[in-house]
Amino acid sequence: MEISNNVFYAAIVGFLLLNFHALFSEAQQEYTNNKQSDCGNPTNATLGNACNSVSSCLSYLTFRSISPYTTPATIASLLNSTAAAISTANDLSGDADEAIPVTTNLIVPVNCSCSGSGLYYQYNSSYVLKTNDTYFSMANSTFQGLTTCQALIAQNTYGERNLTSGLNVSVPLRCACPTSNQTQAGFKYLITYMISQGESVGSIAQQFGVDVQSVLDANKLSGNNIFFFTPLMVPLKQEPNKTQLVITTTTPPPPPPPPSAVPSGDGDSDSSTKWVIVGVVVGAGLVVILGIFLFFYCRRRRQSQLPEAKKVSVSEIDTGKNLFDSSTNESWSVSLDGLRDAVASLTVYKFEELQKATNFFSEKNRIKGSVYRASFKGDDAAIKELQGDVSGEINILVQINHTNIIRLSGFCVSKGNTYLVYEFAQNGSLDNWLHSTKHENSITLNWKQRVQIAYDVADALNYLHNYTNPVHIHKNLNSGNVLLDSNFRAKVSNFGLARTVNDEEEGGFQLTRHVIGTRGYMPPEYTENGVISPKMDVFAFGVVILELLSGREAIAGEVMLAASISDVLEGKDGEREKIRVFMDPILDSEYPLVLAHSLAQLAKRCVSSDYNSRPAMSEVLTTLSKIQSTTLDWDPSEES
Ligand SMILES: *[C@@H]1O[C@H](CO)[C@@H](O)[C@H](O)[C@H]1NC(C)=O
Ligand SMILES: *[C@@H]1O[C@H](CO)[C@@H](O)[C@H](O)[C@H]1NC(C)=O
Ligand SMILES: *[C@@H]1O[C@H](CO)[C@@H](O)[C@H](O)[C@H]1NC(C)=O
Ligand SMILES: *[C@@H]1O[C@H](CO)[C@@H](O)[C@H](O)[C@H]1NC(C)=O
Ligand SMILES: *[C@@H]1O[C@H](CO)[C@@H](O)[C@H](O)[C@H]1NC(C)=O
Ligand SMILES: *[C@@H]1O[C@H](CO)[C@@H](O)[C@H](O)[C@H]1NC(C)=O
Ligand SMILES: *[C@@H]1O[C@H](CO)[C@@H](O)[C@H](O)[C@H]1NC(C)=O
Ligand SMILES: *[C@@H]1O[C@H](CO)[C@@H](O)[C@H](O)[C@H]1NC(C)=O
Ligand SMILES: *[C@@H]1O[C@H](CO)[C@@H](O)[C@H](O)[C@H]1NC(C)=O
Ligand SMILES: *[C@@H]1O[C@H](CO)[C@@H](O)[C@H](O)[C@H]1NC(C)=O
Repeated sequence: MEISNNVFYAAIVGFLLLNFHALFSEAQQEYTNNKQSDCGNPTNATLGNACNSVSSCLSYLTFRSISPYTTPATIASLLNSTAAAISTANDLSGDADEAIPVTTNLIVPVNCSCSGSGLYYQYNSSYVLKTNDTYFSMANSTFQGLTTCQALIAQNTYGERNLTSGLNVSVPLRCACPTSNQTQAGFKYLITYMISQGESVGSIAQQFGVDVQSVLDANKLSGNNIFFFTPLMVPLKQEPNKTQLVITTTTPPPPPPPPSAVPSGDGDSDSSTKWVIVGVVVGAGLVVILGIFLFFYCRRRRQSQLPEAKKVSVSEIDTGKNLFDSSTNESWSVSLDGLRDAVASLTVYKFEELQKATNFFSEKNRIKGSVYRASFKGDDAAIKELQGDVSGEINILVQINHTNIIRLSGFCVSKGNTYLVYEFAQNGSLDNWLHSTKHENSITLNWKQRVQIAYDVADALNYLHNYTNPVHIHKNLNSGNVLLDSNFRAKVSNFGLARTVNDEEEGGFQLTRHVIGTRGYMPPEYTENGVISPKMDVFAFGVVILELLSGREAIAGEVMLAASISDVLEGKDGEREKIRVFMDPILDSEYPLVLAHSLAQLAKRCVSSDYNSRPAMSEVLTTLSKIQSTTLDWDPSEES
């Protein structure tokens, strides 16, 4: 169970050792923590970076070229910079109208200052509104997160509803100056860096050649809990250069791609564009090669029986390149793409390590199906064997971080199978406790534990639906996928079917013709029309509550548990008695009837066949937290 933590700390310690000479720096700017999407709620962090040091300085922004901003001149006019400054900073030809390949990351130097109110570090630009622009679309799309809707609202007189095309809006761009502590530690500049998918604080720190702690401090972060499309302030000792902006997520031990990966001999100015293209291509190539290399890593390790882990060497990368050259298969790139994102934060295991940890996948170690219990130097873990492309599950699990979601700590690919290594949940799956009659020590889940489990699962789903970007939908929640740790706290697992939706663009739902899931937990709009939305998790969660209450299975023969609750709660008289009959007999009336009734009502709303009538997960969590806190006050001896 401690494995994942150990891995995490090992990674941090590893980074610190690489940079052991670096000084710690004072906490500086507060990270937006994904609050920039909640335009109606300004917070200190979303309004701007606090003006807490010198009143002005040179600082840097990052911007990704995207139509129509693909020349130094157009980008300069958007960000109130000059084409010359952008050309110089990015080693471009100097031609203001030079076409920059799309999605190239660029450095934009600006003079950052505590202007206006004097509260925030910012650099002013302006923007003339186009049709349908909103403060949010400007902040998130046009300005790529360099400003926030909260800051735009605070610094403009026009209300959100009064925005019309042609208005000239002032745009405060986020920047910052080093604090005295950062200056003492040798930092001279801060760059406002936009986090991309798959990046971590560690990978970003490595990319800029600074220590992880200084980046964490600069953003008042204590862990790797970051979101895509949010700005991270990275302290720098030297001016940034474009090689640092070629995103390459790599494993922690090997150094970042060497500058020699980029041609340096021909220094003519007319080759600059080519230089950028080559840089991007080589950078992306390295990532793919590294992915392939890791893909074959444990397989090869199995054959060569080397005593200890060795660093990636150039010759091995070359081998990887050959493999890459001989394989141009589409499906390859899909799974490798997934592994690429995962590589930075996961342990890659050798197959023998897994064999040793599971007693050669012995029957005794089998938990259920293809899931085995493993022990790595005394730390328990669960290993799941899977076939096919599992990059989806890996990618989702490396991005999310919640105590009530099972943590993935590593993986291994061998003989076409992928083995995922997870944190271990001592008490197995919830369905075993609720529906199995034979329990070794005949203990059963009591009322308080059941309410806590419901709360934990709701907390996890609320996180997936409201605190990840993009929004995640589990799609296959059931009592078999709810695992219990040694304290009977719940952890949601099995993200094999999970997927993401962008709620802004797609109205929060998607359609599919490929309906798969667990019978008894799938809502009608999904089984009938293939509608995928967060409300399908709400439905499944309602079924799990009903299981917790009744101890019955989600489906018995053809009867869905979800369909039975409306009968129970129907009609005034006898309702209490009906609930008593519905409740799990094993609880033996050791529960407060009033709360059981509230919970049953919540479940009924969750399993409503009209998905608009189902509450959102945030509301479910609020209701459950009330039920839970009342449960904590409840004394079993009072009830009889
Ligand atoms: C950072 O600054 C604070 C005061 O602002 C000081 O107490 C602290 O010692 C400094 N830390 C370092 C490492 O310089
Ligand atoms: C926001 O900033 C103001 C002024 O600096 C400060 O008084 C307040 O405590 C801050 N609020 C939070 C939540 O940090
Ligand atoms: C920043 O200010 C200096 C002097 O105040 C000026 O020379 C330089 O052009 C400015 N840079 C930008 C990007 O505006
Ligand atoms: C930036 O804009 C703010 C508000 O629009 C204004 O108060 C401030 O004076 C401006 N700063 C500079 C340096 O122009
Ligand atoms: C652009 O930046 C200059 C300083 O470099 C500032 O004086 C000017 O007000 C800014 N333009 C806008 C539209 O804020
Ligand atoms: C603006 O929004 C309206 C309504 O949503 C849409 O019909 C129109 O095409 C949009 N215009 C542009 C230029 O995107
Ligand atoms: C914000 O912008 C990013 C990058 O363009 C985009 O992928 C994301 O969907 C946007 N978020 C919202 C909520 O529109
Ligand atoms: C929006 O426009 C209306 C009419 O033009 C005006 O009365 C109102 O004050 C404006 N609201 C804001 C917040 O600017
Ligand atoms: C918008 O306003 C700024 C000053 O706030 C000015 O510098 C800029 O030229 C204006 N843009 C247009 C297109 O009028
Ligand atoms: C870019 O910056 C890094 C670290 O600041 C430095 O090691 C590297 O040599 C620079 N590369 C170029 C091409 O200037």
